[in-house]
Amino acid sequence: MSSKTSSNVFRSTHPLVTHKLTLLRDKRTEPKKFRELVSEVAAMLVYEATLDLPLKPQPIETPLAEFEGHVVQDKIGLVPILRAGLGMVNGIWNLIPQAEVWHIGLYRDEQTLQPVEYYNKLPVSPTVQLCLVLDPMLATGGSAVATIDILKDWGADRIKFVGILAAPEGVQALSDAHPDVPIHMAVIDERLTGDEGPWPAGFIWPGLGDAGDRQFGTG
Ligand code: PRP
Repeated sequence: MSSKTSSNVFRSTHPLVTHKLTLLRDKRTEPKKFRELVSEVAAMLVYEATLDLPLKPQPIETPLAEFEGHVVQDKIGLVPILRAGLGMVNGIWNLIPQAEVWHIGLYRDEQTLQPVEYYNKLPVSPTVQLCLVLDPMLATGGSAVATIDILKDWGADRIKFVGILAAPEGVQALSDAHPDVPIHMAVIDERLTGDEGPWPAGFIWPGLGDAGDRQFGTG
């Protein structure tokens, strides 16, 4: 259950996603529960984001008869953006256990809000046909744009972005930079914070705080 908000942007309308998102936003939610929710919401979003996966025939035998089955044709790569994207991996891996996982490390400079790359574990050339870029937060969009730049330079030809919470500014920046990349989110919030405080500029409002810190207990 996802609704298309513009040409390539999908927002989940599933009641379970909305329910879990409310728990994620709640500041009383402890890191253990927060991690479980990130993983569960990620799996539900990927269930929707993979509706168009091509299938190929696979003949098998059931205990009773020969049968022409179908299996997913493409190799899929999960590309979590460290750190916060890590929490999305396990839920999705349970759905797609054959997926490969390739990590990209970026942090957002607190002053400039620009992404800084610190880790890249991609192999020399692409080993998968579809990359799912994972990051729960799409704020300015800088981290997502930079990661997809890296993947395209690497040679990836089909890429989807799967996040949980977005600011309109991030959706716009990612759509402008990579109009070919579908964006799957649980929700698009009101705006990014400015300099009005008490939160630093560039946080999603009303949001859920810092998804990395809330998962890893480092806030
Ligand atoms: C946060 C978040 C995203 C990024 C989003 O990461 O997890 O990766 O910022 O912001 P953007 O859309 O403006 O680029 P952060 O840099 O705090 O690192 P962390 O995941 O290690 O906490």
